[in-house]
Amino acid sequence: MAIREIREMGDNILNTVCKEVKEVTPRTKDLIDDMFDTMYEANGVGLAAPQVGILKRIVVIDVTGEDPILMINPKILETSGEQTGQEGCLSVPGKSGLVTRPNYVKALAYNENMEPFEIEGTELLARAILHEVDHLDGHLYVEKVEGPLMDVTDLEEED
Ligand code: NI
Repeated sequence: MAIREIREMGDNILNTVCKEVKEVTPRTKDLIDDMFDTMYEANGVGLAAPQVGILKRIVVIDVTGEDPILMINPKILETSGEQTGQEGCLSVPGKSGLVTRPNYVKALAYNENMEPFEIEGTELLARAILHEVDHLDGHLYVEKVEGPLMDVTDLEEED
C-alpha cells in the first residue's frame, strides 16, 4: 500500500497511448492497490495508470466511495444519449470545466484475474469510465471543455 505521485498536465506521459496488459503480475497487483489508495487519498472518483506514471491500460473508478471498480484493458462497446456537466481531473488540480459526453456507456474490461466482464453505467459512472479510458489514449478532458477552465473554490470542496 502506497500513495503514488500524481502526474499533472504538462507531463508528456499524460499524452502517451498506454499499452495493453498481457498478464497481472504481483507488481501489477501492487500498482492496482496503490492506484486505489492514491485515488481515495486525493478524493478522486477515478484514476488511470498514466496519471501515476505507468503506461498501462489500467483504470480504477469509484463514484460512490463504496463501489471500487477495476478495469484492465477497457474497451467502450456502446454509448448513447448525452450529458453536459462539470468535470475535473486529479492531473489538473483546482480546475473544472463543462464537458458533454454520452449519458450511457457499456464497456468490456478484465478483472485482476484477467477474466472479462461487461459494465454499464449512466450519468457520473458513464462520465468517469469515458474520462478514464481517454487517459489511456493520452487525452485529457481539457481538450473537450466548452468555454473556459474554471477554478474550483475551496467552498466547493467536500473536505
Ligand atoms: Ni482524469
